[in-house]
Amino acid sequence: MSISKILQEPTLGSVITVKGWVRSFRSNRFIALNDGSALANLQCVVDFEKEDEAQLKRITTGACLAVTGELVESKGKGQSVEIIVSSFEVLGDAPVEEYPLQPKKHSLEFLREIAHLRPRTNTFGAVFRIRHALSFAIHNYFNKEGFFNWHSPIITGSDAEGAGEMFRVTTLPNGTDQESSEDFFGKETHLTVSGQLEGELGAMGLGKIYTFGPTFRAENSNTTRHLAEFWMIEPEMAFFDLEMNMDLAEDFLKYTIQHVLDNCRADLEFLDKRFADEQKGKPQNERAEQGLIEKLEFVVSNDFVRLSYTEAIEILRNCKPNKKKKFKYLINEWGADLQSEHERYLVEKHFKAPVVLFDYPANIKAFYMRLNEDEKTVRAMDILFPGIGEIVGGSQREERYDVLKQKVADVGIPEEELWWYLETRKFGTCVHSGFGLGFERLVLFATGMGNIRDVIPFPRAPKSANF
Ligand code: 4AD
Ligand code: MG
Repeated sequence: MSISKILQEPTLGSVITVKGWVRSFRSNRFIALNDGSALANLQCVVDFEKEDEAQLKRITTGACLAVTGELVESKGKGQSVEIIVSSFEVLGDAPVEEYPLQPKKHSLEFLREIAHLRPRTNTFGAVFRIRHALSFAIHNYFNKEGFFNWHSPIITGSDAEGAGEMFRVTTLPNGTDQESSEDFFGKETHLTVSGQLEGELGAMGLGKIYTFGPTFRAENSNTTRHLAEFWMIEPEMAFFDLEMNMDLAEDFLKYTIQHVLDNCRADLEFLDKRFADEQKGKPQNERAEQGLIEKLEFVVSNDFVRLSYTEAIEILRNCKPNKKKKFKYLINEWGADLQSEHERYLVEKHFKAPVVLFDYPANIKAFYMRLNEDEKTVRAMDILFPGIGEIVGGSQREERYDVLKQKVADVGIPEEELWWYLETRKFGTCVHSGFGLGFERLVLFATGMGNIRDVIPFPRAPKSANF
């Protein structure tokens, strides 16, 4: 039986067997056992006078045990029930002198080096349970809204999205100068940077689809917000314009965060405390104004601020950090690409709320976004979150065949590469929209962790692909 179940519905007086890993063993008597099903440990009380000493010595932090005994009300503080151990078996030893995870505070940097063991810590247990809950909530949301889960390919033969540098996929031996036509697929192929273009094909037949899959970007961004391999959720909807797209994205984000608030209380409370402790170590002006749970509650219960790129540029041009040249990239004129310092200023200082920016200049956004009547801006939208910056990027898609064909030519993509994409505009085209949510950025937000490498089990980043 799982510890989570035992603590939720304790069957006092019953004899049960529990398996898990020892978190600590105190006074040769109290085992704190954790099986990962919940943050809480189960206290197991051994009578050391009855047990074999050599066996007792094997109960060390990290050892795996099967414990059998009666579940009783606990007399001690800190837990409601405990097991009076009648027998135990050591399933796997963890020698003290070698086991790196001792019951003390380890730095996140150190834990990243032992990512194979970090799921056994309170912090990573909480993070990965919340990661699961978010994934579950995402599928739930789209299912209840009538979307179909759609699988875009991971290996792609098109190089069209332009969302980032691509990883090559090849079976050609190293150091040969063989032609791509001799390669496995008979052409050059890559790992996908986004499932969107193939997602659109699904939406143009099934109506509303969403992808939830891994995406890969070989950009050399060594930041706390970028991974080379990350998971993305990309809904795509026929007959949705940009307004409907923004409404959906806001409702969707609130739903997933509410799900975590409703279902991950113990883990959230633990991370809330962790977050607060971390803030104390920061200089006053860098501290978050809200606690973790407070921040999540704020997001689900307030409207996101919506404003156009043009309005945002006006605010940024006239803001203090721009005038005092505090920004690394100064905002001088319309058309400037927004950097994360600008996004964070808008969200964290100016509006103090999630912000949806729309109608960006055409030349800083992808070719497939719908051109506005002004012929200068496109129907793009980005959602910016406090402490994160961009969490969602999306748009209404260009549905007009001639306009799209021209755009494809203008950015220099050979038409043969995108003939299939263009055909959806030639045959039965319609207004449609979609967006992409970076899953790890959502997990980062919901857990209050500071580095994206700590919200995915095995992060891939420049010069780092261990495990
Ligand atoms: O803004 P992006 O590049 O948009 C697209 O890929 C579109 N095809 C989405 C669509 O309209 N269907 O990426 C979408 C989101 C970003 O807002 C960000 O949250 C996340 O993906 N993202 C990353 N997350 C982690 N590491 C990276 N290197 C990321 N790059 C983007
Ligand atoms: Mg983007």
